[in-house]
Amino acid sequence: MYLHLLDRLRCPSCRSDLQVETEARITCTNNRTDLEEGIIRCQSNPSHRYLVVDGVAILVPEFNEYLTAKPDMREEIRQMASTETGTYFIDKNSDPVEKAQSDGWEDLQTNYIWAHFDSITTDDLFVECMPEGIQPVLPDGADAIKATVESMLTPPSTEESLGIDIGSSVGGLTHVLSTAVETALGCDRSFRAIRMARQIRDADGEFTYEVPLEGTRTESRTIEVNVPNPARVEFVVSEADALPIESNSVDSALSMNMIDVVSSPRTHLTETDRVLNESGQLIVGDPYDWSKVSPAETTDWIGGTEQTPSEQKLREILTKELNHSITEEQPAVPWNLRFHDRRYSILITDCIACRK
Ligand SMILES: C[S@@+](CC[C@H](N)C(=O)[O-])C[C@H]1O[C@@H](n2cnc3c(N)ncnc32)[C@H](O)[C@@H]1O
Repeated sequence: MYLHLLDRLRCPSCRSDLQVETEARITCTNNRTDLEEGIIRCQSNPSHRYLVVDGVAILVPEFNEYLTAKPDMREEIRQMASTETGTYFIDKNSDPVEKAQSDGWEDLQTNYIWAHFDSITTDDLFVECMPEGIQPVLPDGADAIKATVESMLTPPSTEESLGIDIGSSVGGLTHVLSTAVETALGCDRSFRAIRMARQIRDADGEFTYEVPLEGTRTESRTIEVNVPNPARVEFVVSEADALPIESNSVDSALSMNMIDVVSSPRTHLTETDRVLNESGQLIVGDPYDWSKVSPAETTDWIGGTEQTPSEQKLREILTKELNHSITEEQPAVPWNLRFHDRRYSILITDCIACRK
């Protein structure tokens, strides 16, 4: 994590200032000072401590719960720790879990690398299966969403502006955000996605990743990635309803395809509103893919029931409850994900730009 960003971050539990404990491993390359491994501590409550490992800051209120919910990750993260302080922190703040389960989001980074940085037109099987004379009609991954966000973003007039991309995954939209703000911060609860986002940011022109073919079969694919402002983009592990950010400090916030994946969509919106400053812009988009396996109870959905369509309910919350003014809307922006050679999903995102 870029060390200078610590000033912009706050304790996710109590929102106090943070400091790095001594014995941290810090590197300096290309004029960037990176906290590679160490413990970040809350200045008000010393029991609020957070791990940084392999450059990834895990700024979640309950570290133990976080790792317990992701037993697969505990060993992976422990293996990455290269200092005694790091391993001691993990051992002391988590319990080994005998039977590993998987956290769904931890297994989806390649889908998002593909959507954010790769292109569907190179996928031979998809192109070949089209009947003769029919051109593939799927939209290009997240390109339409990226173009929509880019067109909706209004650069803030403040110096040292801060933008956050909540649920950034591997960071495609965080880089779009960085074209409008001084510092763009991607926040996601998936450790692997944030680690990958940092690797993509630091890739020098080319990035190689494993594209799923079927089951556990994968193929290495090298793609070109040229991110516009690597020195001004950072990614941290954090929860959408406990952002490690000071209130009223964010100029632009993105919540793209998040509302239907969090356990409390309303809390996510009020938490986003908390961090936005008085003239802050929010760009929110969602395909309202509610289902019985959604983490939110049906009663917590924003719309999605026979009585209230989601489009209407979200606009009501934004304008009547959060007092935002809607400045632009694009109710049907396509995006698609690739799961493997023979499975894609197409979603249609309702995108809204609004301002406090
Ligand atoms: C549907 S993806 C959207 C990714 C990206 N915003 C986009 O539009 O392509 C949802 C992302 O949110 C993350 N996520 C899910 N629940 C979260 C939570 N409670 N807090 C933070 N991130 C969360 C997942 O790890 C995943 O990367």
